[in-house]
Amino acid sequence: MTKTDLQFTPADYDWSKIRTRNRFEMKDSAKNSSAKEQVGMAAANLVEDRMLVGLGTGSTAAFVIQRLGARIANDGLQIQCVTTSFQSTLLARQAGIPLLGLDSVTRLDISIDGADEIDPDLHLIKGGGAAHTLEKIVHALSDRFIVVADESKLSPFLGQNFAVPLEVLPAGRLLVERELQRLGAREIQLRMAQRKDGPVISDNGNMILDARFERFNPLELEQQLDAIPGVVACGIFARYRPARGDCLIGQAGGVRQL
Ligand code: 5RP
Repeated sequence: MTKTDLQFTPADYDWSKIRTRNRFEMKDSAKNSSAKEQVGMAAANLVEDRMLVGLGTGSTAAFVIQRLGARIANDGLQIQCVTTSFQSTLLARQAGIPLLGLDSVTRLDISIDGADEIDPDLHLIKGGGAAHTLEKIVHALSDRFIVVADESKLSPFLGQNFAVPLEVLPAGRLLVERELQRLGAREIQLRMAQRKDGPVISDNGNMILDARFERFNPLELEQQLDAIPGVVACGIFARYRPARGDCLIGQAGGVRQL
């Protein structure tokens, strides 16, 4: 007899796989900042007058926001933007960028965002900053999705360097952990906060799990993870990934288009 969800008992649940320490490698926002700046500036220069723009989150997206603010102040660039986090809202306000509520737009011309891991088919892992849910909404709304990153983000396959983040409703966490194990997660961690006791709480009031998988099919796993009850969004971006040429990599000697 095959097991159904209801026949899954606590004894089947391998608690030893669940850890609540930050043992996974977390992103290092201070790393490669000149490459990030270079690529951020190049991407911001793709934005044209009257565009509706989605602003990503993270240390590379911060350079995009800074440059767009400078273009508005110095060149009279006329744009309206939506943000993907408290971080990008604060930075955009400081930079004098006109903002619209994300709940008021049905499409965007372009969105620009960083990534934590990029495979050769331009599938991404995002969510190192726990902002991937709004980022997924923004990139799904965009006619063009530009990714900005430094070379350290490139990887032969997703999951080699970075666990898959999942934003999870607190009440659904144990069910999600159980389903992650069923889907083959080797290790699962509740992301813990720094300079706050307890877990990271996302801008939407949810918890973040980081799940490590063996090699996987990005499109298939994204669908499976996003379908688990209690998962708000997973950090695999396979369905909404940049088109060929729209992944900009900052490296010594300039910016490379992938
Ligand atoms: C936030 C993200 C970021 O885009 C990703 O973590 C990359 O950030 P950085 O540019 O700081 O390396 O997905 O949730």
